[in-house]
Formats: sequence, structure tokens, C-alpha cells
Amino acid sequence: MHPNLTVVDHPLIQHKLTLMRRKETSTAQFRALLAEIALLLGYEAMRDLKLTEETIETPLMPMKAHKLEGKKLVLITIMRAGQGLVDGMLQLVPSARVGHVGLYRDPKTLQAVEYYYKVPQQLEDRDVIVCDPMLATGNSAIAALDRLKRSNPGSLRLVCLLACPEGIANLASAHPDVPIITAAVDEKLNDHGYILPGLGDAGDRLFGTK
Ligand code: URA
Repeated sequence: MHPNLTVVDHPLIQHKLTLMRRKETSTAQFRALLAEIALLLGYEAMRDLKLTEETIETPLMPMKAHKLEGKKLVLITIMRAGQGLVDGMLQLVPSARVGHVGLYRDPKTLQAVEYYYKVPQQLEDRDVIVCDPMLATGNSAIAALDRLKRSNPGSLRLVCLLACPEGIANLASAHPDVPIITAAVDEKLNDHGYILPGLGDAGDRLFGTK
């Protein structure tokens, strides 16, 4: 497996993920659960962000206190389901900047095709967290990371909800330097590029489009 893979197997996350997987879970519940899990995954994904010190005054005395180093963090949503993860993470870092990468999967080749790209300036000074709920073939995440690396970001991480061995292997060979944070690694990919047992189409379930 990927040496940089972190599976966040906290009981709260696993419980919420089971609720999300159930086919009878409503769109409203799915959306709320994804935001809750995103917050918890984000907490783990941001564990090694660098800190700096500043002198502040408490009501009692001055002290040197920690704060996050550098420019504002960037959250990248891989449209469209990535939005669900970004919404949850924004509760943790409300001042984060948000970038959008639009990619669709060609249904025949399963390759990622870019149709939109708008990200914050000065990525070279920023930590960047790419949000893509389903690491299936890995093609979308790889394409997004390829594109982002052209701007030389300060650091890059990928947060997903579910991964599978095929997606992890593809990502590991294309971007061995990028840590992956996920809630679970499922069994395998089917012939249509869906994760099994998975949770179905994350975008459709999040937006109620099916
Ligand atoms: N995208 C999804 O939404 N679900 C999968 O299982 C794979 C890719």
C-alpha cells in the first residue's frame, strides 16, 4: 500500500460512514454526514501543518503563542462531489481559500477530462488540500494534482472519503509524494469505475440528481 496512506479509523467516522453507505439514506442526511466526516478527516489532514509563534497579551500577561504559519490554507474541490468535503472542512478553517477543478470521467475510457480550473493565487506559499470523496480509478485526482503541481504549491494532500486498492496504487505511482487521508479502503473497483461495496455515486447522492 501507499506509504503515505492514512486511514482514519476513528469509531465516529466509521459509524457515520456506514450511515452514508446505506441506500435508504436521504440526500439531506448524506449531505450532513459528509460535512461531519469532512470536519473529522480535515482535523487529521491538518495535523502536521506548520506553526509559528507570535507575542500576544492575555488579560494577565504577554506570552508567545502558536498560530498557523504562512498564507491562508487552500481547499480544492474536485467538482462536483468534492464540494461536500470542502463544506465540512470550511467549518474547521473558515478563512481557507477555495479552488475549483472541474473534471468529468469519460464513461468509455474512464480518463479525466478537465472543463474548469480556478484556484487561488500564490499557491507556492500555501498548503493545499485536494478534496475528492471517491478515490476510484484515481484518474481525476491524478489529473488535478498534475495541474496543481504546475503552480508549485507549498504542500499538497489529498483527502477522500473512500478509496480502493486500484486508485491508491495509481495515485501512489503518479504522485508518491502526496499524502492520502481517507476514512476507509474498500474492496475493489467494478468495470464501470465504481468502488465496491462503496456508496454509489457520491455526486448524485450529495446533490439528489438521481
Ligand atoms: N465516483 C463515485 O461517485 N462513486 C464511485 O464509486 C466511484 C467514483
